[in-house]
Amino acid sequence: MNSFTNNNLEKIYITGEKKLTGSVNISGAKNAALPLMALSLIINKDFNLYNVPDLADTRLMSNLLIDLGIAINWRKGNLNFYGKPKKDEASYDLVRQMRASILVLGPLLASKGTAKVPLPGGCAIGSRPIDLHVMVMEALGANVKFDSGFIISSLSNEGLKGGVINFPKVSVGATESALMTAVLAQGQTKIFNAAKEPEVTDLANCLNKAGADIKGIGTDNLIINGVKELNQVSHSVVSDRIEAGSFAIASSITKGNVEINNINPKNLTEFINILKLTGSKVEIFENSMNVSCSQRPKTFNVYTDPYPGFPTDLQAQYMALMAIANGKTLIKETIFENRFMHVPELLRMGAKISVNHQEAEINGVKNLKGAKVMASDLRASMCLILAALAATGTSEIDGLNHLDRGYENLEDKLTNLGAIIKRSN
Ligand code: UD1
Repeated sequence: MNSFTNNNLEKIYITGEKKLTGSVNISGAKNAALPLMALSLIINKDFNLYNVPDLADTRLMSNLLIDLGIAINWRKGNLNFYGKPKKDEASYDLVRQMRASILVLGPLLASKGTAKVPLPGGCAIGSRPIDLHVMVMEALGANVKFDSGFIISSLSNEGLKGGVINFPKVSVGATESALMTAVLAQGQTKIFNAAKEPEVTDLANCLNKAGADIKGIGTDNLIINGVKELNQVSHSVVSDRIEAGSFAIASSITKGNVEINNINPKNLTEFINILKLTGSKVEIFENSMNVSCSQRPKTFNVYTDPYPGFPTDLQAQYMALMAIANGKTLIKETIFENRFMHVPELLRMGAKISVNHQEAEINGVKNLKGAKVMASDLRASMCLILAALAATGTSEIDGLNHLDRGYENLEDKLTNLGAIIKRSN
């Protein structure tokens, strides 16, 4: 059972230096599940999603959709959605808790002709603007204005119209917004400089199964021929490559040997290549990989980049590994401007890291030491868990509300691999 509903006073205690061994099953991807769930606003026939991770974020998206009028039957990882949205205004109390709530804007507009969505608030990893989502709505014929903290989009009698969207930068969320809205527009939409992340591909594949006409899936340029309506569909959420990468590092950082199942290793190609260069052994199979490491990690410089580059969502976890590497590593964060919040906490554990704007210089130490630390965001919390797994002594990790947004049954999965981990007040 995930304990994300528990109070925020809980902490995770980890006693480190245990080699992790055994096998772990990776859950469905949070970042794929969230936009897929938002499709329930435009698929008004029987819609089933399988392999949905049970997380604070997916529960929140579920509540947001229920509040809009969608009925959801949630049985283990299988969700059945039915009904149409009954209102066009998303709840401020829910949206402010999760930035990805912006994903309901396009589908709500497509379904209701108007959509009123609160501006998602700031975020620990940068300002995270929504201008590209707005650009998408306008390119597809919507009128967009801002009033009292809401984005209000509306359509004329002509409805959604196909258009040309030339993204000035690659955005996962804005590409997803464009797909979810353009599939129901009249005529053709062309998207240039689209995000190619596996989660975007998963969304596009599900839409095509429901009768949409999207071409160029997995490339920079997408062509969408609008359809009148979407049909019933059942779809299984792609597995979580970020969770898989996190467990791979858990194996390497503890000099362990872990089989990571239920994955598509192709979605992790760049990460796996780099992990190998740092001295880990990675054996790749069709739906799994085995990661082991018997030496202190070697250094390898990394910069984050949109897919297929090194994922920003694995940057913090990779830094934990490099914190104990033999030598100096440079890590450059190119996607978000403030994504080194884990650094001061790693310093508390004895790491030697300095940050200059978007670049961190890590001088590997032989051993990290257990300490009391505070997670600042989702991936930072995993970084601290990994550091604690390798550290001498016991660490106390606070700020679990972030962790619970994105890792399903984490303590159980790590305990099964031999970690000494417990959650308590
Ligand atoms: C998604 C992921 C997140 C991941 C990120 C980058 C989900 C729910 N979250 O976030 O885990 O870290 O992709 O892989 O899928 N930007 C703008 N204007 C916009 C939108 C984005 O300038 O309207 C900028 C962002 O500030 C950032 C860059 O574009 O610098 C990429 O962000 P984006 O890909 O949109 O991230 P998200 O979709 O929010």
